[in-house]
Amino acid sequence: MCKPSTSHLPPLPTHPTMTSPSQKPLKVGIIGFGPFAQFLVKTMIKQGHSIKATSRSDYTQLCTHLGISFFRDMKAFLESNNEVILLCTSILSLSQVINSLPFNCLTQPTLFVDVLSVKEYPRDLMLQVLPQDSDVLCTHPMFGPESGKDGWNDLTFMYEKVRITNEATCSSFLQIFATEGCKMMEMTCEEHDKLSARSQFLTHTIGRVLSEMEVEPTPIDTKGFQKLVQVKESTSRDSFDLFSGLFIHNRFAKQQLMNIELAVETIKQQLVKRMNEQVDPSI
Ligand SMILES: NC(=O)c1ccc[n+]([C@@H]2O[C@H](COP(=O)([O-])OP(=O)(O)OC[C@H]3O[C@@H](n4cnc5c(N)ncnc54)[C@H](OP(=O)(O)O)[C@@H]3O)[C@@H](O)[C@H]2O)c1
Repeated sequence: MCKPSTSHLPPLPTHPTMTSPSQKPLKVGIIGFGPFAQFLVKTMIKQGHSIKATSRSDYTQLCTHLGISFFRDMKAFLESNNEVILLCTSILSLSQVINSLPFNCLTQPTLFVDVLSVKEYPRDLMLQVLPQDSDVLCTHPMFGPESGKDGWNDLTFMYEKVRITNEATCSSFLQIFATEGCKMMEMTCEEHDKLSARSQFLTHTIGRVLSEMEVEPTPIDTKGFQKLVQVKESTSRDSFDLFSGLFIHNRFAKQQLMNIELAVETIKQQLVKRMNEQVDPSI
């Protein structure tokens, strides 16, 4: 039985002058144990962190195999003393998931971290819904099970410390990625969404277009075409929930989709114009 909802005591003061972040193992609870969480957790286990997980589907067997606890009951999960709660649900389900959490079951002020591929949306939701004494860290590892399968060295990890009072826990969490060699990139959620509409959303949209066109390797592929096939294959491995989340919950993506349509139309007009100029006037 969880206690009635009250505000937690403020965290103990930390050492703001501390230069090397604490290496102590963290107690991390994961909500949403889909493909991306399963990918992240392998490195966290390797680093010696204590992991618990919960999800809509039952991952008891997989978690037993990984040597971590899986909770079917959300109250028991929140009562299980996590220092960090990592939100790994789909973009589209975050609102439903976060709004259904029984926060009165938390036993301590907790650092909530999300890894969603859009950033303003989870930031706003977390600030709206989470208890006031929860810390909020927004992150986006700019890699996944395919690009990160041989390690995370030199792969980019974006983050914004949105509301942090317990610097030590936040640093310990960021250290998970820093020690693997990630390029740690601190920027605002707004800046992330602007940039990722122009890069990640564009890549996924082109990949989906290529897939729609049933683009396949041919016996005479150029290097450029081989790269296109790779884009098609890597983007269609991600769920359609992920792709549509990139569009629906990034306010900069709508303009980008219009830019793509406009660019295709402009190029088509340039080609038709040139073709008409080439017509032999003697015919
Ligand atoms: N894949 C990547 O390379 C990558 C990289 C960086 C960030 N991310 C982010 O990581 C998150 C997870 O991505 P993903 O690749 O694992 O696939 P996803 O399709 O975006 O999300 C799958 C997860 O969402 C949960 N979920 C979906 N619908 C739900 C619902 N109605 N209610 C409750 N839970 C629901 C699933 O739970 P069940 O499995 O229990 O059904 C699963 O844990 C996303 O926010 C994504 O943007 C992904």
